[in-house]
Amino acid sequence: MSTRRNFMGMALGGFTALGAVGGLYAAKRTWEPLPSVKAAGFTTIDLSEAKAGELVTEKWRGKPIFVLKKTDDMPYHDRDVVIGSDRYLITVGLCTHLGCIPAYNSSDKMFNCACHGGKFDVSGINLPGLPPSFPLDIPPFRIEGTKLVLGEKGTEYNKMLADKLTRKV
Ligand code: FES
Repeated sequence: MSTRRNFMGMALGGFTALGAVGGLYAAKRTWEPLPSVKAAGFTTIDLSEAKAGELVTEKWRGKPIFVLKKTDDMPYHDRDVVIGSDRYLITVGLCTHLGCIPAYNSSDKMFNCACHGGKFDVSGINLPGLPPSFPLDIPPFRIEGTKLVLGEKGTEYNKMLADKLTRKV
């Protein structure tokens, strides 16, 4: 009887350990950033592995950079960075009110700033009537195939600046 109980205990322990390892693996995959290279003020991010609807936070010159591959149901905006048939929100992840880092809520698809209640939609546009007066800033970028080079001003970024879709960072 006790041998059977020991066996059952060991089997249960084994399954629990396996579950924990599986959970850690899943969590690691979720937290894994996109492949990126940092050099002399530039950060190059390979977007080919980005998953639609999943926010990735990168770092550029000490600032958090939000990268969100838009899902088909997320509305198009002239601020979208278009690479092939994919659309991305690329912004500095600092609230344009007083600089807190907004948190992304995937269920209501909003960036919510806990400091004073600011909200930004998936195009980084500030909701009216709340403290932030500007959309989230777009960092200088250049598109290179499926890669994004942060810190270099490419044609698409210069057009966004000329069209006043973002402030200079
Ligand atoms: S810093 Fe975000 S609302 Fe004030």
